[in-house]
Amino acid sequence: MVRTPTPDDKFSFGLWTIGWTGTDPFGVPSRPELDPWEYAEGLAELGAWGITFHDNDVFAFDATDDERSARVGQLKDAAGKAGLVIEMVTTNTFTHPAFKDGGLTSNDRSVRRFGLRKILRNVDLAAELGASTFVMWGGREGAEYDSSKDLYAALERYKEGLDTVASHIKTQGYDLKIGLEPKPNEPRGDIFLPTVGHALALIAELEHGDIVGLNPEVGHEQMANLNYTHALAQAMFSGKLFHIDLNGQRGLKYDQDLCFGHGDLMSAFFTVDLLTNGFPASPDAPRYDGPVHFDYKPSRTEGMQGIWDSASANMETWLLLADKARAFRADPEVQQVMKDASIYELSEPTLAEGESLADFLAADEPFDADAAGAREYGFVKLQQLAIRHLIG
Ligand code: GCO
Ligand code: MN
Ligand code: MN
Repeated sequence: MVRTPTPDDKFSFGLWTIGWTGTDPFGVPSRPELDPWEYAEGLAELGAWGITFHDNDVFAFDATDDERSARVGQLKDAAGKAGLVIEMVTTNTFTHPAFKDGGLTSNDRSVRRFGLRKILRNVDLAAELGASTFVMWGGREGAEYDSSKDLYAALERYKEGLDTVASHIKTQGYDLKIGLEPKPNEPRGDIFLPTVGHALALIAELEHGDIVGLNPEVGHEQMANLNYTHALAQAMFSGKLFHIDLNGQRGLKYDQDLCFGHGDLMSAFFTVDLLTNGFPASPDAPRYDGPVHFDYKPSRTEGMQGIWDSASANMETWLLLADKARAFRADPEVQQVMKDASIYELSEPTLAEGESLADFLAADEPFDADAAGAREYGFVKLQQLAIRHLIG
């Protein structure tokens, strides 16, 4: 480990991440299961600051009220003793077969009414535990067959569900924001809200969209062949980056949930660069200061020690990349190459202050198209400087 993580690093983990026992469509568990509080204690020892969980990571789907409160109480005590913040809570609306056609968008109205109640009850729990974000990942909201859904109605029902949850949060006066988590597919053939852009578009249609934002995940954007750092930037541009799910993915395949940085390292570097240093030429742009949350899985090949080693690997990689990203931005040569590349110039508005459209159109402004076509940007040089900082 480069250095021991401290609470200031705000590292947090889903209990379902290190708690994954290795069950997959082809195999039974490859590791025993610990109790949720044991995972929490282990994370605290490694230097994590926070934990997150689904309702059913802590108590069973069919738990009685007594079982529910006993298990939640035990986790809360353990987290308190270990100094861990319960920063995010989320709802499992995907494991039980009742949710096979979705929780908020199932064709079956009785499932939707059940799903919505499950989510609302979990919002109350999130508020009670002091969480600041309530993530909604609609893993089963989707379809395999285009014949199977009225897609307009599905979006209406998604909107209705989100507005109902958001309005409950407001009515109760909870200090809680909703983070939507886009994903293109898996477990459904096509999941609704497949990308950050789709989620932003739905948020814009909501009545209570002011407390609804994003929880983008590295692997999910990359499964759609998209750039995670760009997705973060787009969410930040809309003031909607409420939470993040970091992990690693190598190309267009199933959701690999590798450790952060074990997929596309260069992309991970620029993700950390954006999140720690902000935009290079936009000092007034929104910054992300939320939890550095990992949603990965210790690979099925790993045993119990591998759980803790992989949890540490996520944090270590973040810390290493953050050091490199700071050095990259502070490097005078990098700054000069950025200047030569006109990177700072992009934050200058295209029209001059007070310039009318008429003035703009009438301006007799020389422009040498050939020179503009022939100029150097030096982007490759800049990227190589990043490589030098990364592995030089
Ligand atoms: C996945 C998702 C989930 C969600 C989690 C929180 O691909 O399975 O990333 O892990 O993040 O359900 O809502
Ligand atoms: Mn995922
Ligand atoms: Mn996730």
